[in-house]
Amino acid sequence: MSDLNALKKAAGERAANMIQTGMTVGLGTGSTATFMVARLAERIRTENLKVTAVSTSWSTTLQCRKEGIPLIELGEAKFLDMAIDGADEIDPARNLIKGRGAAHLLEKIVASMADVYIIIADSGKKVNKLGEKFAVPLEILPNAIGSVTYKVEKLGAKVSVRLGAPGKDGPVISDSGNLIADANFGPIADPAKLNFELNKIPGLLGHGLFIGMANKVIIAASEGLEEF
Ligand code: A5P
Repeated sequence: MSDLNALKKAAGERAANMIQTGMTVGLGTGSTATFMVARLAERIRTENLKVTAVSTSWSTTLQCRKEGIPLIELGEAKFLDMAIDGADEIDPARNLIKGRGAAHLLEKIVASMADVYIIIADSGKKVNKLGEKFAVPLEILPNAIGSVTYKVEKLGAKVSVRLGAPGKDGPVISDSGNLIADANFGPIADPAKLNFELNKIPGLLGHGLFIGMANKVIIAASEGLEEF
């Protein structure tokens, strides 16, 4: 296992170990969340842990089915005891950019349903300002691609429709059937204000700024785990 994957595994396992029997949990998407899901499955097998889970993507659903984690449909759940997910960028106030894997719309719904929302990541995800390394992913109703692009660019971004999913020509289509685009703002001076402005755009179904949502961040570095 690479050093980076060892860090992702350490963070993922630490969070999975916080899940308690009887909980309904939201399971995130991505390479770090995969380690968390694998550890949860191991605990279900070896500790007889009883949980009900909801998934944030087809990717995670298929892993849960393979590993025997009991899932309910997201629409069946009203609230969650805990949700655990990865992130692309994390600032010192626990604000996030998410959506490299195009799962940010469902991930944000799941995050909003959770009493406790825990982010797991390797130390490379820490930034001083959101937008330093990543563009802000968007999920756009296909009919609104023109108007949403125009409005987001007026807020100061360069927007590009995400292309090049392996095994498919043309645009990336989300698990909910929408277009994915990336809005490059560069370093974002006021993420809360940008979140407020993006939330007002009709047809922009979701975006990857997660402001004030995470209760805890678990960062794995070569020196050990950090939590804030
Ligand atoms: C999925 O769309 C994303 O929000 C992921 O949660 C995020 O990109 C973190 O993924 P990794 O753990 O693979 O870096």
